[in-house]
Amino acid sequence: MANIHTPIPNLKLNDGHSMPMLGYGTGTAWYKSGNESKVDQACIEAAKISMNMGYHHQDAAEVYKTETELGQAIKQAGISREKLFLTTKVITNISDIPSALKTSLKKLGVDYVDLYLIHAPFFSDKKEDHQEKWRQMEELKAQGLTKSIGVSNYLPQHLDWIFETCKVPPAVNQIEFHPYLQHPDLISYHKKKGIATCAYGPLTAVTKGAGGPADEVLEKLAKKYAVSPGEISLRWCIDQDIVPITTSSKEQRMSDYLRAMTFKLNPAEIKQLNEAGSKKHLRGFWTHKYDENDKR
Ligand SMILES: NC(=O)c1ccc[n+]([C@@H]2O[C@H](COP(=O)([O-])OP(=O)(O)OC[C@H]3O[C@@H](n4cnc5c(N)ncnc54)[C@H](OP(=O)(O)O)[C@@H]3O)[C@@H](O)[C@H]2O)c1
Repeated sequence: MANIHTPIPNLKLNDGHSMPMLGYGTGTAWYKSGNESKVDQACIEAAKISMNMGYHHQDAAEVYKTETELGQAIKQAGISREKLFLTTKVITNISDIPSALKTSLKKLGVDYVDLYLIHAPFFSDKKEDHQEKWRQMEELKAQGLTKSIGVSNYLPQHLDWIFETCKVPPAVNQIEFHPYLQHPDLISYHKKKGIATCAYGPLTAVTKGAGGPADEVLEKLAKKYAVSPGEISLRWCIDQDIVPITTSSKEQRMSDYLRAMTFKLNPAEIKQLNEAGSKKHLRGFWTHKYDENDKR
């Protein structure tokens, strides 16, 4: 297995904190549909391996029901807390955000997270509800229970509501992002407002979307940089200042993805992938909330 020493770069957030530009997720493939108390040893093992390999940015959520596993992995990995960047999210217990975070902290076995996110905006269509929830997020930051606060799956309209009344702007919006879902309007909104973008599903063009119009460009670039199309997909995010959150059950893939830190795509190559990707639309998550052709 390759032993890559190239460090993962950091992205500076609008509140002064920094986020490692590649995250490891304990959702999707690790998502527990059954009883939360049944501990998934494979998830513990994989998260631990990832941390020891250098994935210090770990992405969790209460709804994944794997915070206990991540907590065990953190303990077993023996990496000091300050080196880790831990994200978790609230949605199931959105009615009581402060106690949701306290429960998450207990499961994770830590005193604070680095980033706490409202997992999705679908809990209410009312602006006042969003503004009230955001006030609660601001309080948790003020109490030191989370270093940064942000959102996930928000559209400009939801962000506008928060900006109307916030004291602390969202540091991050974590969204599905890959060549087949580039939502350029949302990304330019983020840039204008200083919100960092995290990309989930970054490998979609080579997994669910394989056989699509981006294949040729991905393969050409993979050949040029002697990496895989998946690593090109991760680098394509990073070179647009977007932080990909991936996951894998396989040590070899976790190791291979670190090769995305060893090269850079040039602007013409990014453009080629953007153009090829925009010929197809594919959304893999929250599909019940969007029309088939809704690219926002
Ligand atoms: N905020 C949200 O609403 C939200 C939604 C979804 C996800 N997320 C977060 O983002 C993380 C990553 O999401 P994701 O899993 O969609 O990311 P991804 O990086 O696009 O996909 C990773 C998955 O692809 C599989 N894979 C990799 N290469 C493959 C190949 N060549 N052929 C077939 N399968 C391949 C991996 O399986 P192997 O185990 O075989 O490598 C893994 O299950 C989640 O764990 C979660 O933390 C957040």
